[in-house]
Amino acid sequence: MKAPTNTCIVGLTWGDEAKGKIVDILAAEHDVCIRYNGGNNAGHTVAFEGDTYKLHLVPSGLFYPGVTCVIGGGLVVDPQVLLEEITTHEGKAVGLRQRLLVSSRAHTIWPWHKKIEALSEKHLGKGKIGTTLRGIGPAYADKANRVTAIRMGEFLRPDHLRPKVERIVQQKNAVFTKVFDADPLDAAAVWDEYAAYGRELAPMIADTTAWLHGAIEGGKRLLFEGAQGTLLDIDHGTYPYVTSSNASVAGVWPGTGVSPRHIHEILGVVKAYTTRVGEGPFPTELKDALGDQIREQGHEYGTTTGRPRRCGWLDTFAIRYAARLNHVDAIVITLLDVLGGLAELKICTGYTVGGKPLKEFPDDPTALQQAQPILESLTPWPEDISGIRAFDDLPSAAKAYVNRVTELVGAPVRIISVGPDRAQTIFRS
Ligand code: IMP
Repeated sequence: MKAPTNTCIVGLTWGDEAKGKIVDILAAEHDVCIRYNGGNNAGHTVAFEGDTYKLHLVPSGLFYPGVTCVIGGGLVVDPQVLLEEITTHEGKAVGLRQRLLVSSRAHTIWPWHKKIEALSEKHLGKGKIGTTLRGIGPAYADKANRVTAIRMGEFLRPDHLRPKVERIVQQKNAVFTKVFDADPLDAAAVWDEYAAYGRELAPMIADTTAWLHGAIEGGKRLLFEGAQGTLLDIDHGTYPYVTSSNASVAGVWPGTGVSPRHIHEILGVVKAYTTRVGEGPFPTELKDALGDQIREQGHEYGTTTGRPRRCGWLDTFAIRYAARLNHVDAIVITLLDVLGGLAELKICTGYTVGGKPLKEFPDDPTALQQAQPILESLTPWPEDISGIRAFDDLPSAAKAYVNRVTELVGAPVRIISVGPDRAQTIFRS
């Protein structure tokens, strides 16, 4: 039997760290790939053999025929999006429907979630969160509210679900019409559409907690895939400009039913620079031509919404906080190639507020809003490094950059990505 090694991949910044590529690579050494948080607000990209695949809900290990993919109970699942994604990828992801399990405990996204989010964000105007408008927050709010929530397992009992949907639509419609002066939803039309999704997804719905416990007992190797990033974690991120789930490693337990004591290795993923989408403080943001250059070189436009990402210098002060929080064993740096050819190169080592250096990453959004980055200049490199496959072959300036990240974050750099393709990867022992 193979030695069981359970790994967790977690983003250390505000998401979009190219975790999908890393999960895809590491899935080759695992038997099960499990998403534990979020929903189709995530956009994970996998590229190999000249093709690129965009994923939002299905775990990024789907392209290995021997890997079972699990959507954990910590997710909020839009059934329409999930079915679209399965249909889009099942040609390449052979036998996907037979090896995809969706937790009966996962919550579901319905049209009223997307509608209320759009109305609320519009109503907030400048004070908005800048969400992905996929209904994520309202679905998690209903999960906490309980009486207006629907879990995936309920699709297996349509006779029970139908009157429940009618009751919920009635309640939501009162808010749409009386609070927002908006049109109501048609409960019968919603039910007809979603009952059909439920019938198609039914064979994949399972008690994934029990299944995963069996997999552990059977010596299977598990790969946990976090969506978004630690700084977007509802509890530990830059609240209130966060997502609605535990995007840090804290999400594994509630999101899968697997105790963190089963995780043997935690890898924290960062880009070689930092980006953020949506609103919220971002101390190292470059609002100048250099920021634009990084955005263009890195193709920094959202996989899910197409929004241009805000770009800035690598924020090792924030990353050090996230690395400690997740207790990472090692770091993965992605998109290192994008920094090639910049006229200058800086890295953030800390913050000041009111001229005073901070000891810790702020727990308060106002302090973070006021934080000024302490920037250190490093030597840029002009070379294209996307064809390099060994650390020792990197230009000395690129090696010095990676080594400085290790020093500042306090964790070794295990994997470096120098391009989107599986092959464009440097592994270090
Ligand atoms: P929500 O998750 O749609 O509620 O959006 C809340 C915040 O998280 C917004 O700033 C989004 O832009 C951000 N966000 C959500 N998912 C992702 C992601 O996968 N990558 C980057 N940012 C995300």
